[in-house]
Amino acid sequence: MRNKWVIANWKLNGDYELVKTFAPALKSFSADSNVSIVVCPPAVFVQSAVRDYPEIKWGAQLASAYQAGAYTGEISADLLSQVGVHYVLVGHSERRSLFQETNESIAQQIKLAQQAQLKVVLCVGESETERLAGKTNQVVLSQLEQGLAKANIEDVIIAYEPVWAIGTGKTATPEQAQEVHALIRSWLTEKIADKASQVAILYGGSVGPANAKELFSQADIDGGLVGGASLKIDSFLAICQAAQDN
Ligand code: PGA
Repeated sequence: MRNKWVIANWKLNGDYELVKTFAPALKSFSADSNVSIVVCPPAVFVQSAVRDYPEIKWGAQLASAYQAGAYTGEISADLLSQVGVHYVLVGHSERRSLFQETNESIAQQIKLAQQAQLKVVLCVGESETERLAGKTNQVVLSQLEQGLAKANIEDVIIAYEPVWAIGTGKTATPEQAQEVHALIRSWLTEKIADKASQVAILYGGSVGPANAKELFSQADIDGGLVGGASLKIDSFLAICQAAQDN
């Protein structure tokens, strides 16, 4: 039996007041739940959140593909680890499309993040054009193959996030999502055999209180990566509860 995960990706939203609201609510939810909950606020709040609320799992939204040096504005996985961060998102579609991240730079980010003992959440997913052209499987498999080229695969979490479902209110149906999750699971099985059954594969893309339960009930959907609905404690807790109920 795999654990369920719900991960909040606040993107460039939220402030320290939101951290202060979430921490006690998640602490009390977690007292009677075995869902693993991670919150990824904007980078400047992560260090204080870890210090003030060590009982909550806090993650970063990004770690550099560089270790150290003349890379203005970058934050390395090592530095995140030094301030007590244990989780990091890698390869989010917004990073790929708006900030020109490639599978190669993603592979390098993952390598350094794992060296720094961070748990990596690798995001993969096809665009609408790619889906309509029947290229979903091909795109997802090449993101896995190239993104995880230097990784310790059994230690990653994978988030399948169809780009057309992110922030659009258009969710993949549970069947559509499960189909891709099963593909990811079989790719994992090819690479790491039995250990594939222990890797969490999360769904992301307009997850909310109304659709979480059905999505999370699918055989290979082990929880969610949540954007918009992770900015309000009530909707986020409802999603965590849906994970708990599955
Ligand atoms: P969304 O974002 O829940 O707002 O669609 C998900 C994500 O980008 O991880």
